[in-house]
Amino acid sequence: MFGKIRFWKKCVLLNFLILYALASRCLSASMERTGIIFQNQSISDGQILVSTNKNFMLGFFSPGASSYRYVGIWHNDSERRVVWVANRNNPIKDKLGILKFDDSSNLIVLDGSGNSITVAYGVGVQDLEAVILDNGNFVLRSISNQAKIIWQSFDFPTDTWLPEMNITLGSKLLTSWKSYDDPAVGDYSFGPGVTNASELIIWWKGIAYWTSGGWDGDVNALIPDLKSINTIPLYFHCDNLTCTYTPNPASRLTQFVLDPNGALSIEQFDPGAQSWTLLWRQPPSCEVSNLCGVFGICNDNMQTSHCRCLKGFAPQDTQYSRKGCTRKIPLQCDGDKFIDMPGMRLPGNGDKLSVMGDDGCESACMINCSCTAYVHSVLDGCSLWYGDLTNLQDGYNGTGVGIGTLYLRVAASELESISRSGHKILWIAGVLSSVAFIIFCSILFIWIRISRNKGKGKQDGHHSLMTTDTIKLWEKSKLGEGGFGPVYKGNLPDGLEIAVKRLAANSGQGLQEFKNEILLIAKLQHSNLVGLLGCCIEGEEMLLVYEYMPNKSLDFFLFENTRRALLDWEMRMNIIEGVAQGLIYLHKHSRLRIIHRDLKASNILLDTDMSPKISDFGMARIFDPKGTQANTKRVVGTYGYMAPEYAMAGIFSVKSDVFSYGVLLLEIVSGMKNAGSQGRGNSLSLLGYAWELWNEGRCHELIDKSLHGRCPEIVALRCVHVSLLCVQEQAADRPSMTEVLSMITNDNATLPDPKQPGFLSLLVSNQTDITEETCSLNGLSITNLDGR
Ligand SMILES: *[C@@H]1O[C@H](CO)[C@@H](O)[C@H](O)[C@H]1NC(C)=O
Ligand SMILES: *[C@@H]1O[C@H](CO)[C@@H](O)[C@H](O)[C@H]1NC(C)=O
Ligand SMILES: *[C@@H]1O[C@H](CO)[C@@H](O)[C@H](O)[C@H]1NC(C)=O
Ligand SMILES: *[C@@H]1O[C@H](CO)[C@@H](O)[C@H](O)[C@H]1NC(C)=O
Ligand SMILES: *[C@@H]1O[C@H](CO)[C@@H](O)[C@H](O)[C@H]1NC(C)=O
Ligand SMILES: *[C@@H]1O[C@H](CO)[C@@H](O)[C@H](O)[C@H]1NC(C)=O
Ligand SMILES: *[C@@H]1O[C@H](CO)[C@@H](O)[C@H](O)[C@H]1NC(C)=O
Repeated sequence: MFGKIRFWKKCVLLNFLILYALASRCLSASMERTGIIFQNQSISDGQILVSTNKNFMLGFFSPGASSYRYVGIWHNDSERRVVWVANRNNPIKDKLGILKFDDSSNLIVLDGSGNSITVAYGVGVQDLEAVILDNGNFVLRSISNQAKIIWQSFDFPTDTWLPEMNITLGSKLLTSWKSYDDPAVGDYSFGPGVTNASELIIWWKGIAYWTSGGWDGDVNALIPDLKSINTIPLYFHCDNLTCTYTPNPASRLTQFVLDPNGALSIEQFDPGAQSWTLLWRQPPSCEVSNLCGVFGICNDNMQTSHCRCLKGFAPQDTQYSRKGCTRKIPLQCDGDKFIDMPGMRLPGNGDKLSVMGDDGCESACMINCSCTAYVHSVLDGCSLWYGDLTNLQDGYNGTGVGIGTLYLRVAASELESISRSGHKILWIAGVLSSVAFIIFCSILFIWIRISRNKGKGKQDGHHSLMTTDTIKLWEKSKLGEGGFGPVYKGNLPDGLEIAVKRLAANSGQGLQEFKNEILLIAKLQHSNLVGLLGCCIEGEEMLLVYEYMPNKSLDFFLFENTRRALLDWEMRMNIIEGVAQGLIYLHKHSRLRIIHRDLKASNILLDTDMSPKISDFGMARIFDPKGTQANTKRVVGTYGYMAPEYAMAGIFSVKSDVFSYGVLLLEIVSGMKNAGSQGRGNSLSLLGYAWELWNEGRCHELIDKSLHGRCPEIVALRCVHVSLLCVQEQAADRPSMTEVLSMITNDNATLPDPKQPGFLSLLVSNQTDITEETCSLNGLSITNLDGR
């Protein structure tokens, strides 16, 4: 009996020794083990568990440049791509980690200091094994009943979706790593939608930025792009809550990975090439905050990269990255310039200022050297940005507020280099058109000489350009009297109808300056500006040749009862918008930044299809070469259209044109003349009448009777409202033409209440100091008292 026991003991001991020897030989040979851990076993850092098919491995690893240790599962490929991490938010800080079961059947990791992290919950079940399955799922299951899964890694996805793994609405979503060095939970997630589980969605911090197609039972309806691949690479299986997929063929290693930058990729392993093939990739969209880094600009419509640098900036890295961009030329502060970037979706973090108008906003930014950009809009006023700019986006066609023109501060020398490259083509076009223009001038000159010689022939050519005959001919065909001289109809030798303006002689300018000015103005091209075809100068005589407008001018229709009825609402809106476009071009986009200074109904010409064309633009420049100063001694303009500050003090700005536009707008809607009109209501002018009606809430009475029932009253009323904003007394209160246009065309714009129009104080103080002031103005020449 005793001997028996001894023998048994010996036997057990022997068994142990043999087992131990076998085990240690195995471990020392490759540190690899078949894919099972029993409750009486453990895995230490350095040992690896391999699935039966050798495709997946489980063990300890350090990602990227990190020295922390994580327990994870990776592919048996040369890159050892990690597909799952057990302790992504709880790294082990030493290399002494051991993966083992604790007394409650939970699988835990113990580090060298005895800290434990639970990896998998066995919830007290006694006959457990932990197995890495052939599909990459790591499970705790009952040894006696292997179908009984107590816990599985597939229920806790990290950033990789493997075949047969269910991702589920609300619970089992992919979440990206923080970075390639840190598998902790990052900002991106992917999975079935919350409202409609049959769509897959990628979120950034809970904001959806990509949505798949809808699941309609079709194998690839979720990502239709996959259908274009020769062999359908995988099949989705979804129901209301959950989605899974199987590769085609089923044995092909496949994975969806949501990378730390928010791009979702589908990859398949090519056994021949022993490498992964990218099937499809969805990069993050501009909805992701700061996607393009500082001074980067995002555009979702661009194919390769959504990011690029703002003008005057270059990428910080050799390639584009979230680090963003740096300035090519540092700011100088003094003398910096602003470049306009229209159509930008603006970041919402600007400083709101209560300065009024474009100009005020620009100087508020210019004054502070750390101000890098500003935006001015009617609705939001003036916003300034300091330091680094982020979250800019263009090409955005979604709805929502915050699209506008951003003015970006750049060094003045940067602006020059930008315009040199950007305008090269324009410049060439400019040169070509100037050459054509000079040739044209010469032809015209020769033609006029010939016609003169055919006439009397005795003129010496230094006092008058034209013979009495030609003058007579032209007197007959006089079209009208413009602000700067009479206009005649004529023909070129080839029959083209032209309008010729004969300028009043004393322009106060030298010949050369005059020519330069004409050349500049001739280059302005816009469909709402009358085309200047050429000019002719001889002695004191100066002729400007324009395209001929068959439908005369707006006043011809607007201020005559029968003809006014011909102007339906559509035509009027077309004129209102067209004139605004033309002015915007003059104020902002033309290289000369022209202030018209004499905008009125008789200067709006109408072409064959009643499209408006502004005429006489640039005249103020010709007649007032020092006119670029904001204060001029010579006031050109028309009573009734002139802004008070201009009429009274000679101070003009783009806002004086806005005033004139406001008057014109009111005239178009009401069909009444502002200037020289008989009193209406208690007021002496149309503006006063409009202001009176506005205050009494009776603006609809202003709308032209001939439009009754034939115009959308709400739009007409908005036009009245906008016109009152345009004629406010303080120039700074008036909107810019860009804002005016957007207020007129945007049904949803909320408009501020207008303040008192500019004319009132003029009238009120008419009897007293104004006369004095007017008298003190040198060379005040109100060129056209009745405004025609
Ligand atoms: C460890 O546990 C497994 C399953 O419970 C068992 O088959 C095996 O014999 C045990 N090994 C040792 C050395 O106890
Ligand atoms: C990894 O896979 C290759 C073949 O695919 C196999 O030869 C190798 O043994 C595998 N590695 C391990 C550790 O099982
Ligand atoms: C996935 O979900 C289906 C039912 O929707 C279930 O039958 C299957 O066992 C699940 N697979 C895993 C790995 O959980
Ligand atoms: C979910 O999406 C599918 C496919 O787009 C659509 O047919 C279904 O009506 C949607 N269900 C709901 C509740 O919106
Ligand atoms: C899925 O949703 C539809 C409608 O919402 C419902 O009729 C159907 O029974 C649901 N299917 C499952 C499996 O829950
Ligand atoms: C410029 O603006 C910043 C931000 O508002 C402010 O902190 C700074 O004092 C300003 N600098 C000057 C010189 O006004
Ligand atoms: C936005 O417009 C661009 C170009 O017009 C177009 O390619 C793109 O599909 C549009 N995007 C959306 C979301 O409508």
